[in-house]
Amino acid sequence: MTFNTDLPIIAGNWKMNGLNQSKKEIGSLLKKITNISKSNVILFPPFTIIETFAKLTENSGIFIGAQDCHHEDYGAYTSAISASMISDVNAKFVIVGHSETRTANNYTNNIIRLKAEAAHRNNLIPIVCVGESDLHRKSGDQFNFVKAQLEESLPQSTTRDNTIIAYEPIWAIGTGNTAATKDIVEMVNCIFSKLNSMKSNKKDIPRCLYGGSVNPSNSRDILSIENIGGLLVGGASLDSSQFSEIINLI
Ligand code: PGA
Repeated sequence: MTFNTDLPIIAGNWKMNGLNQSKKEIGSLLKKITNISKSNVILFPPFTIIETFAKLTENSGIFIGAQDCHHEDYGAYTSAISASMISDVNAKFVIVGHSETRTANNYTNNIIRLKAEAAHRNNLIPIVCVGESDLHRKSGDQFNFVKAQLEESLPQSTTRDNTIIAYEPIWAIGTGNTAATKDIVEMVNCIFSKLNSMKSNKKDIPRCLYGGSVNPSNSRDILSIENIGGLLVGGASLDSSQFSEIINLI
């Protein structure tokens, strides 16, 4: 089973949800998906069940990833999980720079870049999250803020094949306030003009997902936005009916 860089990506971030018993969700999700070969479906469960989920989904069309990684591969970092450990249990992806982890741990863009580099070293594809707060948007600073995040968080080694970006406005995450199409279009244009200025070769420009209160009713419109390569779904990915409905729209 290989990641197909030409297909849309539908990623489900379970955040701090999921126990061993949640493995039954995988079975019901697989039953409800009618078009698994039309997209790359990636689930991001908590660390404790990554290995179980990776085994359960082997050759099913669903990929498994982790929600964060440390920037070093090993060492005296109590409580941390490295990209090498994530790779060791057969996960293929890792989210870095999600706004919830940036805020909780005061992660700088520089740390996010080191995490993405650790992912590359260990054959994981990082989803590098960017997105402005309500305050930045209200002050009109959202474009400069996201451009700086891209400039400072993306490793030199970034290519279309080894990295994914997710635009997740912080004010849209878990709030039910999905960004308006016009706002997503403006920001995605800004993201790609920045990426074009950073990378001379088109093959080095990663795809961009949208995340923030995605649900079955708004995903079709968001997916139809030019240059949106897929969705990063939080709350709605916990429910196999809602998540499969989003996947089946592709
Ligand atoms: P949400 O979360 O879909 O619940 O808003 C998205 C995310 O945090 O990735």
